[in-house]
Amino acid sequence: MLLQVKNLKAYFPIKGGILSNTSGQVKAVDDISLNIERGETVGLVGESGSGKSTLGRAILQLVSLSGGLVRFNDVPYNSSRKDAKKVQMIFQDPLSSLNPRMTVGAAIAEVLKHHKLVPRNKVMHRVKELFRMVELSPEYIHRYPHELSGGQCQRVGIARALSVEPELIICDEIVSALDVSVQAQIINLLKKLQKDKKLSYLFISHDLAVVRQIAHRIAVMYCGKIVEYGDVNSIILTPFHPYTKALITIAGEKGHLKDIMKPGDIANPANLPEGCHFHPRCPVKDREDKLPDICKKLYPDLIEKIEGHFVACFQQRK
Ligand SMILES: Nc1ncnc2c1ncn2[C@@H]1O[C@H](COP(=O)(O)OP(=O)(O)OP(=O)(O)O)[C@@H](O)[C@H]1O
Ligand SMILES: [Mg+2]
Repeated sequence: MLLQVKNLKAYFPIKGGILSNTSGQVKAVDDISLNIERGETVGLVGESGSGKSTLGRAILQLVSLSGGLVRFNDVPYNSSRKDAKKVQMIFQDPLSSLNPRMTVGAAIAEVLKHHKLVPRNKVMHRVKELFRMVELSPEYIHRYPHELSGGQCQRVGIARALSVEPELIICDEIVSALDVSVQAQIINLLKKLQKDKKLSYLFISHDLAVVRQIAHRIAVMYCGKIVEYGDVNSIILTPFHPYTKALITIAGEKGHLKDIMKPGDIANPANLPEGCHFHPRCPVKDREDKLPDICKKLYPDLIEKIEGHFVACFQQRK
């Protein structure tokens, strides 16, 4: 197992009142377990605010953990250790993570020098090699970030991540701001790099239509919890959770979740409903007149519906 996440929790205090006392907490990541094998892509999908980025950051210990553990290559992951760079994260906005006053080639050279990854006289050679890997012509080495398109910037972001020879890359909405055709190019590049280097990805996106193009397995997140996970085909062809079904519908129609689900918005993470977090939006209520009491009182554990495909929904236990 490359990555093992067990019962991970990341809670943020909510400050309120005149004295700024802690008045509650946002359970952004609440008891999540997830594994990633070498060479595997796990897609993480869910609406805005469901906790996807926080999970990525919690794995890297960029936020303080409220519980649980992260093991990498069978030892506890420690962000301060030398091999911590084996896990890299790439973000949605590549421009904001690049220094505007530095050419993109120089930015990558700096990483190589900082980590002493190649002898000083080999740095530029390695930068060119990294540009080739991400299918960017070497002439771009001398460009500044604002002179590149969104897709080219994202390629630089990938090259920079690759420069430290990672084994796992956490991709947080990295194609979300790009045109569909450019999205497809970046996804194909990621797949090719995965094959060549046996890389693993945690691929985060709110768009299931994007995630299914790259993921081997998909985990669906809602209000800090994984509500369903399984092989990509199993999830797409036989979804069990009403939330997953809704995500599939909007992925097909490019519509909005709010148009097909009622009532209202994603639950307020600072004030989650009792029972299943999804119950106020659950369509079962409309079909069967009334939602069973258990859905309003208890949170459902994940159960295995078919081999390797798990769901957290009381309706699926009948
Ligand atoms: N540093 C923080 N302090 C307090 N609350 C936070 C912090 N970071 C995230 N949150 C809260 O945790 C919840 C999950 O946020 P997160 O950014 O992980 O969601 P997301 O699924 O990545 O959403 P998006 O699709 O918009 O990126 C949200 O309610 C958010 O407001
Ligand atoms: Mg996010």
